[in-house]
Amino acid sequence: RILILDFGSQVTQLIARRVRETGVYCEIFPFNTDPARIKDFDPKGIILSGSPHSVTTEDGPRAPDIVWESKLPVFGICYGEQTMCQQLGGKVEGSDHREFGRALITVKQETPLFEGVWKPGGEYQVWMSHGDRVVSLPAGFEVVAVSDGAPFAAIANVKDKRYAVQFHPEVVHTPDGARLIANFVHNVAGCKGDWTMAAFRDAEIAKIRQQVGKGRVICGLSGGVDSSVAAVLIHQAIGDQLTCIFVDHGLLRGGEAEQVVALFRDHYNIPLVHRDASDLFLGELAGVSDPEVKRKTIGRLFIEVFEEEAKKLGGADFLAQGTLYPDVIESVSFTGGPSVTIKSHHNVGGLPERMRMKLVEPLRELFKDEVRALGRELGLPEKMIRRHPFPGPGLAIRIPGDITREKCEILRKADAIYLDEIDRAGLYDKIWQAFAVLLPVRTVGVMGDGRTYDYVCALRAVTSTDGMTADFYPFEPQFLGRVATRIVNEVRGINRVVYDYTSKPPGTIEWE
Ligand code: XMP
Repeated sequence: RILILDFGSQVTQLIARRVRETGVYCEIFPFNTDPARIKDFDPKGIILSGSPHSVTTEDGPRAPDIVWESKLPVFGICYGEQTMCQQLGGKVEGSDHREFGRALITVKQETPLFEGVWKPGGEYQVWMSHGDRVVSLPAGFEVVAVSDGAPFAAIANVKDKRYAVQFHPEVVHTPDGARLIANFVHNVAGCKGDWTMAAFRDAEIAKIRQQVGKGRVICGLSGGVDSSVAAVLIHQAIGDQLTCIFVDHGLLRGGEAEQVVALFRDHYNIPLVHRDASDLFLGELAGVSDPEVKRKTIGRLFIEVFEEEAKKLGGADFLAQGTLYPDVIESVSFTGGPSVTIKSHHNVGGLPERMRMKLVEPLRELFKDEVRALGRELGLPEKMIRRHPFPGPGLAIRIPGDITREKCEILRKADAIYLDEIDRAGLYDKIWQAFAVLLPVRTVGVMGDGRTYDYVCALRAVTSTDGMTADFYPFEPQFLGRVATRIVNEVRGINRVVYDYTSKPPGTIEWE
């Protein structure tokens, strides 16, 4: 396993993704983690991340001494290179020349880091993003690649297995970056690369059995990938000690509730409580148009109904959740607030605290794409695995203004047509999330010989890797025209369709 020490870079998670793609398990710890914890983790190599900080200031973060005392192989990236140099006796200076974006580097020497990827004399594209630069090397190091802006673009101390690069190998703009990281992990640190989803599944099943014993577990199902994969995995581990509770708030897309019931109850034979609470939710939401009040109302009712159903089952010892690794990484934040923030799972807002139950979270160590791979390993249907994310509050936050059953029906039909066309055009997997929004605005139109006065429907589609930032999807005008025609022709209540060209930031993905 590999340890990644985080100095607060925006892209530290990408380093972890690249390492895991090589079949090696890794975790991200903040740079100021207790050395005892690093020792316990027992890594075979350490990667130092980038940082928004400068090593030239007194208070810039430093790698703990244990990194150097351990004699483990170390790979410094960007800030990681600078702090490695400075801590080992080299020199780093601020520079007027900021190097940002694509750059070409020239390889000077062969090293185990470049093996099979880069050759001496070759020029290769990398992604740079730095202000400071190394001006003199610590003893034992050599320059192995240079660029115009960074005479120390890559350095190596082959004997001590310490390597560092000024550029970012973890981002896609460094086309060979993933292979360099693989070289560090396999060639330099000597990791085998036998961390597979099948191995993860078996290990996790053993862990769940040990944690749960003869206890009873309840799991909230939403119809999304994460809770589904968690439920199937737990069921494989402990069978009918698991019961799933599916709270149907009446704000799902067409056919979704039926699919959940068919898959879990009929196909997997997992004990499932399906509570149709749409009257309760839509009743309480009637006349509510403030987005925050909507979210809070839905969150509160969800917990109430869930608790009620759990009580009917006679309670349980554990609550299972599909929490993912990005929700639990202790990320280093230098932008105000406490220096170390721990993000918590917000989907079921407060459920675990309220119910005071022990948690079973078998996906805590996985990224989204790894959850999908695990889902495949568990035999979940491809359609469910590929599904776009869908927010907990459902259609409620895609109907700005107040919500009625009628509006939900209109939106469901428009959304289904839009997704059907996306699927037919073979675009579903190229898009992170696509959905229709029903605006609380009526406009005038003409159909046949008559005047219409109906709602406007907005279409949204974005690409993203994690939902934190997103770009609008650039559909062909013909495609949008086809969808608009179908929606206006087939959905009574909508007479105008518009497309949302906003990226995130400054927009958010959802409209509320
Ligand atoms: P925004 O709209 O903030 O959304 O750009 C980012 C991602 O989060 C999803 N989202 C939610 N998911 N509960 C959820 O489970 C919520 O309250 C919620 N709000 C937004 C959104 O669909 C997108 O994938």
